[in-house]
Amino acid sequence: MERLRIEGGRRLEGTVAIHGAKNSALPLLAATLLCKDECALHNCPRLSDVDVAMRILEHLGCRATRQDGTVTVRAEAVSHHDVPEGLMREMRSSIVFLGAILARCGEAALSFPGGCELGPRPIDLHLSSLRRMGALIREEFGVLRCRVPKGLHGAAITLPFPSVGATENVLIAAATAKGTTVLRNAAREPEICDLCAFLTRCGARIHGAGESTVTVEGVEALHGCEHRVIPDRIEAATYMAAAAATGGTVVLKNVETEHLMPVLPAFEEAGCRLTLWGDSLLVSAPPRLHRVRTVRTMPYPGFPTDAAAPLLAMCCVAEGTGVFVETIFESRYKYAGELRRMGACIKVEDRVAVVEGRPTLFGTGVACTDLRGGAALAVAALAAEGVTVIGELHHLDRGYEDMERTLTALGGTVKRTEAEHGTADTDQSEEETACQPLYDGVHPIRYGRGTDPGERAGGRGSEGKRQASDE
Ligand code: UD1
Repeated sequence: MERLRIEGGRRLEGTVAIHGAKNSALPLLAATLLCKDECALHNCPRLSDVDVAMRILEHLGCRATRQDGTVTVRAEAVSHHDVPEGLMREMRSSIVFLGAILARCGEAALSFPGGCELGPRPIDLHLSSLRRMGALIREEFGVLRCRVPKGLHGAAITLPFPSVGATENVLIAAATAKGTTVLRNAAREPEICDLCAFLTRCGARIHGAGESTVTVEGVEALHGCEHRVIPDRIEAATYMAAAAATGGTVVLKNVETEHLMPVLPAFEEAGCRLTLWGDSLLVSAPPRLHRVRTVRTMPYPGFPTDAAAPLLAMCCVAEGTGVFVETIFESRYKYAGELRRMGACIKVEDRVAVVEGRPTLFGTGVACTDLRGGAALAVAALAAEGVTVIGELHHLDRGYEDMERTLTALGGTVKRTEAEHGTADTDQSEEETACQPLYDGVHPIRYGRGTDPGERAGGRGSEGKRQASDE
């Protein structure tokens, strides 16, 4: 079982090139299903979620191949209209294939993605929207069976909440539906704009991309195209938090600075100097971060829920107290328990987390609870004294390409290890492992020779089936 071993306490310095956005690549791959000729997606990140999307396309009868950063999809012969349960379980966002399969095949069978680590995640908005477009949908023993006997047609749809996934499903389904679809209260995330740009390049007629009301005039068919996936704003925010938490100075390259605007004020409030030019952003942190008073997650252009976890980890070593309010998902703070093991002082009450900054954190064995929770642990580990061993890495691998290589290039001491049972991954002395004082009922546990950090770092991995992923 793989773990990430991070020796903390080193300032990060240098340049990091941001990869393509996972949350763009996935709906784009789903949308290629509508194109009968070849599509090439450049800057496509190498992530396990992207691999799952490619496996879904292959299962459906497409050819999906990768050469370096380019994924090429040929969807001229679609032979299946179902997504196997195993693939649906591996990635909850497989639901974004629903609109594409329906539009292409006229029927679809997908197992229900179910709940997951962030609380209940219903798909009612996806289903009600597609129903308005003519889909007949029933659930049969955990499988969604959908068909469109008369084909998809345009509709006036108002989302009660600007769901990213539901907006993507509607846009894809509407591209080749008969007539015009008007989608109100659509999500406005940059990944939605990227999807609209791709569809438009393939021949779709879309007006109002990135606005609350989007109009799609259905066309007969889409053709192939080449498209470059937008940079990953969440990966960028994560490395900003890592740089800031270590008092470092880092240049992020290949960023779309406009997409980062919602997160920049929090870094400025923490005392970071930010310089933007072209597609680059310099983050220069003070030796001790100032407090960030309040972070409230909101749909774009609000503060992104996915960036809250790494920022919260950063605030664990800032001066003073900060409050995080999660408004998108019900249960996003599972990782707080792992951060507490490192000495962080975090109180969680429902959707609110109160973080009292500490001068330092301490390395120990921890386990990713979900993708962005895993990113928070990496940020904390870089800032911590001593060695942290992070287990359950499959969560992190869903959303961060080569994190260890990136952090190593920035001067971090980060290694991916295959830990053997019963061996310690640390070289701390017994003296160094003395427990820190108790506060707030939280006891930071440190490990040294003779203990197995992997018990925590990887102990839960083999216990049960993976749950559907969080994003
Ligand atoms: C996408 C992102 C995820 C991000 C989230 C919010 C991808 C692959 N994932 O997830 O990283 O955290 O947007 O920015 O792009 N909801 C319903 N009914 C529905 C659909 C959603 O109640 O039919 C609720 C969800 O339970 C959640 C909220 O709406 O509480 C937001 O969900 P949504 O915007 O759909 O997020 P995802 O598309 O799943």
